[in-house]
Parts: sequence; C-alpha cells; structure tokens
Amino acid sequence: MKITLTHKAQAIDKAKTDCLVVFLPKEKDKDSRSGLEQLPKAAQRTIDQVLKLNDFSGKTGQMELLFSNAPGIPRLLLVGLGAKSQVTLETLRRAGGKIGKKLNEMKVAKLAIAPPTFLKKSLKAPIGTALAEGIVLGAYQFKTYKTKKTDNAPKAVTITFYDPKKIIGQKAIESGQLRGESANFARTLGNTPANDLTPTMMAQHAQEIAKEHNLTLTVLEEDEMEKLGMGMLLGVSRGSREPAKFIILEYKHKQAEETVAFIGKGITFDSGGLSLKPGKGMEEMKFDMCGAAAVLGAMKAVGTLRPKLNVIGVVPSSENLPDGLAQRPGDIVKSYAGKRVEILNTDAEGRLILGDALTYIAQKFKPDAMIDLATLTGACVIALGDYASGAISNDEALCEKVVTAGKSSGDRVWELPNFPEYEDALKGKYGDLQNIGGPAGGVITAGLFLKNFVEEVPWVHLDIAGTAWDVKGIDYIPNSGATGVGVRLLIDLVNNWNS
Ligand code: BES
Ligand code: MN
Ligand code: ZN
Repeated sequence: MKITLTHKAQAIDKAKTDCLVVFLPKEKDKDSRSGLEQLPKAAQRTIDQVLKLNDFSGKTGQMELLFSNAPGIPRLLLVGLGAKSQVTLETLRRAGGKIGKKLNEMKVAKLAIAPPTFLKKSLKAPIGTALAEGIVLGAYQFKTYKTKKTDNAPKAVTITFYDPKKIIGQKAIESGQLRGESANFARTLGNTPANDLTPTMMAQHAQEIAKEHNLTLTVLEEDEMEKLGMGMLLGVSRGSREPAKFIILEYKHKQAEETVAFIGKGITFDSGGLSLKPGKGMEEMKFDMCGAAAVLGAMKAVGTLRPKLNVIGVVPSSENLPDGLAQRPGDIVKSYAGKRVEILNTDAEGRLILGDALTYIAQKFKPDAMIDLATLTGACVIALGDYASGAISNDEALCEKVVTAGKSSGDRVWELPNFPEYEDALKGKYGDLQNIGGPAGGVITAGLFLKNFVEEVPWVHLDIAGTAWDVKGIDYIPNSGATGVGVRLLIDLVNNWNS
C-alpha cells in the first residue's frame, strides 16, 4: 500500500473523505467529548450517541469502526487514547499503528484525521510525527513472496491531517513518514530470505542508498580483507561460497564537528557453522542481519535528513556455513587488532566479524562514538525477552544518550553490567582470547568480547536478538517477522546529537 500523507490547516467540515479518524480520551462526562467541537455536526451527533451507549470508553487500544450517515463521511474510526494526562508519544505511535493495520482491511482511498487537540501542550508537533510514524509502521506487510495477491488492502491511500489550530504542521508529518519508511525498509531486508539476501546483495542495497543520497560507498572484498589481516571476519566466511563484504557508507557534513559510526552485524544466514545449530528454528537465522538492516535503514534516513554531523554506516557481512573449508573449533585466528583468538564455538561468529569491523573503523576514522547493533546472543533473549535491547558500553555518557534515544523512539534499551570480572571468562587457554565465555551471563561476555576491539573509542553495543523479530503486543509492529528495531533509535540519536 502506498501511503501519501498531507496536512491541511483547515477544519474538517468541508472534507470529503472515505473515513474520518477521531481520537477520544478516557474521561468522565463533558471531558469525554474533548475536541469533538472541531467535527461536522452530524459526526458529533453520531459520536454522542455512541458515547451514551457506554461501550466506547476511550481506553487505550480501543478502536471501533462505525458506518455513519454524516454527509461526506461514510465511516468514522474511533480510537481511544486513555486518560489525557497519561498520553505519551508512544501512546500515539501505537494508536497510529492500530489505524495502519486497520487500513489493510478497509476499502478506502482517502482517510481524514482529526488530530487530538486535548493533549498536553508539551506534545505539540510531535503528535503528528508519532501518528504518521505509527500509521506507516502499522500498515507494513511483507508480501513479496506471495504469488497470488489475495489481500484486499487498498493499493494507495491518501491521509490528510485536518489541523485548523496548526498544532502539528506538514514537517512533523513528513518526519514521521520518513521514520516509518526507513524502519519498513529495514524490515524488508530482515524478512528477505538468505537465498536472495547474500552479502553481495547487501552491498548492492548499500550501493543504491549511496546513489540515492550521494553518500560515499566503499566495499572491501575478501582479498583486501586478507591483506588488512581481518582474520576473524575471514574465518567466519571460510565455510561459505558467497564472498564476504565489508561495507562502509559515509555521510559527511561540511560544518560537522563530530563523527559517529554505526556498525551492524550482517550475517545473512547463521547455521552455526561446524558447531551446527539444531534444525528446529534454524530458518529464523535469516534474521541474523537485522543489525545491518538497522544501519542501512538509518543511513537512508540520514541521507534525507542531512544532519550537522558526520555519520558512517558499517556492515561486515558474511554467511556462517559449514563445509570442507569451514573454520574448526579449536582454530586460532589473528584479529585485525593483532590479538589471537581461539574459536571454541563457530556459532559465536557475530562477535568475530564485529570485532574486526570495530577495530578497522576505530583506526581508520577515529570516530567520536561507535554504536554497534547485533543479533548477538540467545542469552540476551533469556535475560531481557522481546521488549528491550541489551546495552554494553565503555562510556557512561554515550550509553546514557543511547538509552535516552531508546526512550524517545520506542526502541527501548536496557544497560547491562560491564564489570571487569566478567571478562575473566574470555581469557584464552592457548590464544589471547577465546570466543565464548560460557553460559553464565552470555549476553554480557559477548558484549565484553567486543570491548577488546574498540581501541578506547566511546562505544555502545546493542544486542537486539530479542527485539529484532517476532515481537508481539505492540500495535505498530507486525506480529511476526522483522521489526526494524534500531532505525528510529539511531535517527533520534543523530537528531539529538548536538543538543
Ligand atoms: N545469531 C546468534 C544469536 C541468536 C540466537 C539470536 C537465537 C537470536 C536467536 C549468534 O550468532 C549465536 O549463535 N550465538 C550463540 C553464542 C554461543 C555459541 C556462545 C548463542 O547465543 O547460542
Ligand atoms: Mn551464531
Ligand atoms: Zn549469529
């Protein structure tokens, strides 16, 4: 479905639409009608009748489609926002998500929105951003591989915000749309199966982004990685016939004072390698590149937003497969940083490709900050479940920034302990380090493994293993498949960098 979002600084009265969306708070008596005075009289009367029946309380998550006889408004979609004082941008994003999902089963070409006028002044323009973002995210579907197009979703919908009091404006809506579309782009990369999304294809996507937004693209091939001595990355790639790619996208701003680097794990399929994973659920390991998807989605948005900050998007990409050339448990490889690493389990591959990527970026670009995103450990899913990404960091101030961006974006982050004692588990028996730290605190030791490769650059690692796919119960996220986690977080981080 193609969604066009527009803004009109005029009353809904003259609108001709297929459906009018009205937000209602959960309040008593007169207050329950907050904002209705902006609607055409006939629509007001219908809603009055509904409210008298008492089955629509306006609680959060409540949504009701009514067929109305108001002139020019054949349908009314009532959306509850809960108690006025409790409404946050996340409430609005989720309400938008519900509307977006609903759009897929309605026969509408034009949707009119009466934005809520009864909310705290502090929410203002971001109301439009959150609603637009939620709608675009909620309407997302992945149908690329359905041969028969059986769904009844409209091909195109034009959504108009009628905003006579000018509380939101066109800019806010465009920003929401960009955020939603960038995350949806990441979702589609995540959902694409590994036979169609190889490291080579990943590089091609980066190429398209570079072209579209005038970014500099560098793709290091295996022979160059060999020369550079990226033994950890190449070790992972050995068992695969698809060549690994080291992808670097650069966005530069002339007046930028700082440079941040985003690094995403791009394992396009993780079989475990010779430490083979069990068959059950292995198909989910096509999602092992969701960190890379987040970085590419964020770079797309950065290319449009053009912030006063240099941003580097980095994707080390490889398959992790077993064959006669595959890396063996017990092998010792030399990292780009020079440290020797004993491979005790070939399934702990994400930290190997990321370790080399982090050192290379730290040395070559000397960034002011590095953020990596990775579906790194099953242990993270055990520790935090699906509703927070786990953070490990070497810099409190940077971690605070990331946690804050997590709160504002809805891509929530929870910091995990980085106590030095955890690192003891990673000391190598024959090499300098070993690539697993045992089952205790596996999400932490995986993150701290990476710390060996960041060269003192302020850094935050985000384990998105739980949040990257199959997250239920959030209205703007599909019930299954890739979530696009990280994209909106990185956008907020960039937007707020200099403030
Ligand atoms: N990609 C996986 C992590 C993963 C597993 C994410 C399941 C989401 C769901 C990663 O490469 C991996 O296999 N990690 C191992 C590490 C272990 C061998 C120390 C794991 O978590 O089992
Ligand atoms: Mn693995
Ligand atoms: Zn993996």
